[in-house]
Amino acid sequence: MDREPNPVAAGSPDPLAALPADFRWGVATSAYQIEGAVTEDGRGPSIWDTYAHTPGMVDNGDHADTACDHYHRMPADVALLADLGVDTYRFSVAWPRVQPTGRGPANQAGLAFYDRLVDELLGHGIDPWLTLYHWDLPQELEDAGGWPERDTAHRFADYAQLVHAKLGDRVRHWSTLNEPWCSSVLGYFEGRQAPGRRSFPDAVRAIHHLLLGHGLAAIALRESATAPLELGITLNMALNLPAEDTPADRAASRFADGLAVRVWMDALRLGRYPQDVVDDFAIRGAALPVLDGDLDVISTPIDVLGVNYYFGGLVSGVDESGALAGPDGVPVVREVARPHLPRTHMDWEIDAPGFTDLLVRLSADYPGLPMVITENGSAFVDTPDADGFVDDPDREAYLADHIAAVAEARAKGADVRGYLAWSFLDNFEWSYGYDKRFGLVRVDYDTQKRTVKRSGLWYRDLIARARSAP
Ligand code: NOJ
Repeated sequence: MDREPNPVAAGSPDPLAALPADFRWGVATSAYQIEGAVTEDGRGPSIWDTYAHTPGMVDNGDHADTACDHYHRMPADVALLADLGVDTYRFSVAWPRVQPTGRGPANQAGLAFYDRLVDELLGHGIDPWLTLYHWDLPQELEDAGGWPERDTAHRFADYAQLVHAKLGDRVRHWSTLNEPWCSSVLGYFEGRQAPGRRSFPDAVRAIHHLLLGHGLAAIALRESATAPLELGITLNMALNLPAEDTPADRAASRFADGLAVRVWMDALRLGRYPQDVVDDFAIRGAALPVLDGDLDVISTPIDVLGVNYYFGGLVSGVDESGALAGPDGVPVVREVARPHLPRTHMDWEIDAPGFTDLLVRLSADYPGLPMVITENGSAFVDTPDADGFVDDPDREAYLADHIAAVAEARAKGADVRGYLAWSFLDNFEWSYGYDKRFGLVRVDYDTQKRTVKRSGLWYRDLIARARSAP
């Protein structure tokens, strides 16, 4: 931490002028991506253990058996968080540590880790922001049908109560689910994430049961809370604008937006599913398995919307040959690259103005719900020097431009209350393995040495300036 950050990333205006003094600044991680220790203290297997150990599923055959070894290095990692000056740390609890089979009483040895983590954070003056589900479903629940089965929603609510009973006296900020679009669409339709299934009807059933699980857990936590609670859900969203103003591209845009934004937000905020999305699903032989009362549960009031944003993109309903994709009339979404925009190591298009537009659109369409950016960040190819230090102007510029985009959204009326960068540490990037590095802190996986990157120093400096602003 002895090096100096660059003063300001090139070309970015200072966003602090537009952000209030009580704006929340933090970083985020998730359990499976950093903890390791996958068989310790009674932890059971999750769908990600199974998926990662299935040949061909994760690049380079990587898995997260050790990851960043955070389970054993937690106190030192929290001290590093304090050095960065963050006021908030978003982490997730691993369901299979708490309930190794996804059911039954709490495994106290597993819960004890989070008990220590929370105390360690509070001892350093850092607010814990707890995500209950960041994709690591206990394998036994998947064997019983997973998220396409209604019972999984009830199991999730039970699990949420066990975690809350242990930590609710000290943890105020709770996200039920992280990016349920990924859990359903990537996990059950595209097979690109655990559990790797490929059924559109199952993915649609999963959407409803994830939302139901969110609502059941939210109600249960609210009922049992004896201390103030800030309750929310984290969604990954983008605008999916039509590449051209043609009927085909508009149809693709409507379909993509329905799946990325409206199916979740309408259910959560308006207590109904959008009819065009229901129709799109029906054409594909899929249905949301809604029972009486479900939408009341799902739309139970929440306090905050967590927004994860990484990339922009245009969509088209026309394929390469110029023909309308989906001859049966069902829009098929094709992403359309904008060659003038730079890309990250994930090959994601960098679109900071799109972030502003998304936040402004969300606040207009779903008013009255404060937002916190629960993830935003970038992977680039890092080249450490002999000391492990990474000079990463690309990541720094990405951060600066996206924080400026948040400030711009606030200036345009979006009620954004905080920004949590992804990620604190380099970590296991799901099916991409360790090759893609999102950390503000480099992890040398051979030695587990942590080295703050220049972008991390820049972020530390930004937070310090925010605190000292008049
Ligand atoms: C969102 C996910 O929540 C997180 O786990 C992942 O690492 C980042 N996106 C980057 O892909």
